[in-house]
Amino acid sequence: MSGMSVFKDREVLITGGLGFIGSNLAIELVRLGARVTIVDNMLPRQGSNFFNIKDIEAQVKVNISDVRNQLSMNHLVKGKDYIFHLAGQVNHVDSMRNPIQDLDINCRGTLVLLEALRQFNRSGKVIFAGTRGEYGSSVTLPVDEDHPTNPKGIYAVTNLTAEKMVLVYDDVFGIKGACLRITNTYGPRHQMMHDEYGVFNWFIRKALDHEDIPVFGDGRILRDFLYVDDLVACMLATAATDKAYGEVFNVGTGVPVSFIDLALKIVEIAGSGRAIYTEFTQERKEVEPGDYYADITKIKEMVKWVPEISLEDGIQRTIDYYRENRKEYW
Ligand SMILES: NC(=O)c1ccc[n+]([C@@H]2O[C@H](COP(=O)([O-])OP(=O)(O)OC[C@H]3O[C@@H](n4cnc5c(N)ncnc54)[C@H](O)[C@@H]3O)[C@@H](O)[C@H]2O)c1
Repeated sequence: MSGMSVFKDREVLITGGLGFIGSNLAIELVRLGARVTIVDNMLPRQGSNFFNIKDIEAQVKVNISDVRNQLSMNHLVKGKDYIFHLAGQVNHVDSMRNPIQDLDINCRGTLVLLEALRQFNRSGKVIFAGTRGEYGSSVTLPVDEDHPTNPKGIYAVTNLTAEKMVLVYDDVFGIKGACLRITNTYGPRHQMMHDEYGVFNWFIRKALDHEDIPVFGDGRILRDFLYVDDLVACMLATAATDKAYGEVFNVGTGVPVSFIDLALKIVEIAGSGRAIYTEFTQERKEVEPGDYYADITKIKEMVKWVPEISLEDGIQRTIDYYRENRKEYW
């Protein structure tokens, strides 16, 4: 990645760093010469996995703690140049079953982090990983940042609220914060235990297990699928761009793909599995916003980032990773 020398010898905190996106980000930051600290509470049924950081474990500090713990966060933010805030309750279905926990982690956790920065490190820069779910059902496509925000589930409500908190602390206290509304992301190091979030990776598991890949409804709903290395590059480019702070950006490919086409492509590349249609479960239906693909003009122009990995290439890389490491994830 060019122009990333800015991270050399920088102190970086990654909340949720044992999870999918956080661990991929940590690996790249270590490669770039950053001094990385991870904080993660290993929330059950989410993506934390020590195997994710196996290749860098000697080069990172890991603190098993909770972003809601004010004393921990007060200590951890000190001296950090960048804070990538990825710790969150990420399970859409769970956010409806247990909304209080979702609120507590995603909103109070973000506020505790921001308060730690306000009191102990006002020069730390925050990159917040929000979700395209903040928009809810699309009224126009592709979706740009001015599109109305009408979240469909509590997870999306708490992400939108956390995003606003980051922007308020940027505005009022001058704690620099850049907010990303990230599309469905897939790739190596995602949890493969269940299908309640991360449907792309779940399709890959089903294909590798020679099983049916369940596609809800008529399979025609459109999504924008981003490979995790592209997201990592985007997060770093955003962090390194001064004028990105105080802003909200869509992050995606801008390329719509239907769930049925995705399932068929995975079957073709894996050489196993079979796409089948199935009814939506009630829980899924409740949080399904319908078609989404991002307008990424803003981030392309301001941050100079563009996704580079094709869908086919991303599927192949993901399959290769899990073929080699399945026992760590199944
Ligand atoms: N993966 C996607 O497609 C996607 C899309 C949009 C936004 N996001 C956001 O990106 C972030 C990372 O998601 P991911 O896909 O890597 O999920 P993940 O489940 O793999 O990682 C989340 C990590 O956060 C940790 N965590 C949860 N609550 C915590 C707490 N209270 N204190 C400390 N650690 C805590 C978990 O243990 C886990 O390791 C989340 O905030 C998610 O909402 C992800």
